[in-house]
Amino acid sequence: MPLLIRRPRPDPDDLNEILVVHRAAFGREDEARLVEQLHASRRNTFELLAEQNGEVVAHVLFSPIRIEHGDDAQALGLAPMAVTPALQRRGIGTALIREALLALTVSSFRAVVVLGDPAYYGRFGFTPASSFDLQDTYGGGDAFMALALCENGLQGYRGQVDYAPEFANLTD
Ligand SMILES: CC(C)(COP(=O)(O)OP(=O)(O)OC[C@H]1O[C@@H](n2cnc3c(N)ncnc32)[C@H](O)[C@@H]1OP(=O)(O)O)[C@@H](O)C(=O)NCCC(=O)NCCS
Repeated sequence: MPLLIRRPRPDPDDLNEILVVHRAAFGREDEARLVEQLHASRRNTFELLAEQNGEVVAHVLFSPIRIEHGDDAQALGLAPMAVTPALQRRGIGTALIREALLALTVSSFRAVVVLGDPAYYGRFGFTPASSFDLQDTYGGGDAFMALALCENGLQGYRGQVDYAPEFANLTD
């Protein structure tokens, strides 16, 4: 069945289905709650979902970050991201991220950071953020990565990167 990738509609049905995907993929409530809280605070700057047979099967969210030096609100944090367990490892996550990064580039965002598996996010061009003198607050090491969406997209950014306050409620 073909996959439809689209922006979520501002209706409770889409949000409820998105929350189901996160609960199932992470096996806990934290990320679903995080999505709800980012919606409530309107820090869901950019989102995409994937739909199959009329059902939401994957979702990715980008929210604002604060950068210690050089912040211009043109960089976003990627999280959370989830694909429904039965459909993982079929390229859905890859398709969703590629589409999202393209849309953010077109919207003139400069960069994206992510805390995740380097082997997975490396395929999209993410590299350790430490090489740009950027550090996360979680001690993520090489798992904290950055991607420039345009030439010099990361230039001028330096220092500690803080995710939106809602992330403080995540247990790990
Ligand atoms: C991580 C996740 C979003 C990837 O989406 P996906 O649709 O399964 O991934 P894709 O099919 O696009 O890519 C699959 C490839 O990515 C890699 N991969 C998938 N999940 C991975 C993971 N958790 N860690 C490392 N690599 C992973 C594999 O190498 C796989 O390649 P293979 O099929 O050759 O083995 C999805 O597995 C998921 O929802 N996991 C649970 C929640 C989670 O961990 N979210 C990420 C938080 S940053």
